[in-house]
Amino acid sequence: MEYVTLNNGIKMPIIGYGVNKLEKEETERCVLDALNAGYRLIDTAQSYGNEKEIGSAIKKSGVPREEIFLTTKVKIANFGYEKTKASVLEDIEKFGTDYIDLVLVHQPFGDYFGSYKALEDLYFEGKIKAIGISNFYAYKMVDMASFARVKPAVNQVELHPFDQRIESKEWHDKYEVQMQAWAPLGQARVNMLELPELREIARRYKKSVAQIILRWHIQRGISAIPGTPDPKFMKENLDVFDFFLTESDMERIKRLDRERSLFYSHTDPVTVEFFAKKAAEK
Ligand SMILES: NC(=O)c1ccc[n+]([C@@H]2O[C@H](COP(=O)([O-])OP(=O)(O)OC[C@H]3O[C@@H](n4cnc5c(N)ncnc54)[C@H](OP(=O)(O)O)[C@@H]3O)[C@@H](O)[C@H]2O)c1
Repeated sequence: MEYVTLNNGIKMPIIGYGVNKLEKEETERCVLDALNAGYRLIDTAQSYGNEKEIGSAIKKSGVPREEIFLTTKVKIANFGYEKTKASVLEDIEKFGTDYIDLVLVHQPFGDYFGSYKALEDLYFEGKIKAIGISNFYAYKMVDMASFARVKPAVNQVELHPFDQRIESKEWHDKYEVQMQAWAPLGQARVNMLELPELREIARRYKKSVAQIILRWHIQRGISAIPGTPDPKFMKENLDVFDFFLTESDMERIKRLDRERSLFYSHTDPVTVEFFAKKAAEK
């Protein structure tokens, strides 16, 4: 495993295991399989509601807690100082751990500054090792990095060959905020894993297209958290540290950029409305 060092000195595995789409009854088995396969970063969120299953898998795995990097995200229904603080303390109990490695505010809408203040306090109290943001476009990341007491360590955003965020990456580098890719494989949509350009590269390196994409993220200095319930894919997605893409192959992948989300834009009022409704949910 390779690690990135966050702006507060904490080390985070560059590849992690995302648990968003897993069936609840499968989560414990999947996280256990992932830890056995060698994953040391588990990415979840309050909105996925699987803290107990993850905590149980961590215990059963026998992997020392300090070797595991556990990330969660505060859901928009828990935004605001008090609710965020209480919900993260509850998460710590549900995980059955003493601390969480990284907590992100999940969306850039509503009272995310209030939430972030609660995360800062939990960080100062040692309950959280690092704090950050998710789905913040560059201008909002700069806003947070400029005005918060603790600069975000990570911004987790949609990022894959069709939406590469090249200019945004420059801003993140300038502010030393680590970018982390959600949907790093584009959720295998729009034939991303069958693209002839990527297949040709994969053939030459004797790797799968998924491995080529993950390697491309790593060489850009971007952390990625692919998800799958399949143990074979879990192993495949970790087997990306024994080869290097040439500059010309990196360039060829760069040309696939469509500079557009595959899902939704966080600057679209329809997206804001969607999350405003979520904020009203329990
Ligand atoms: N911050 C946010 O707002 C946010 C939003 C979405 C996701 N996330 C996080 O990001 C994680 C990953 O994102 P994601 O699951 O949406 O997208 P993803 O990792 O890009 O794609 C997952 C899909 O790729 C397939 N896949 C995985 N490895 C493969 C391989 N080696 N070969 C072929 N297909 C493979 C899986 O198929 P099978 O299911 O068939 O194995 C699954 O359908 C989530 O689990 C979650 O933790 C965060």
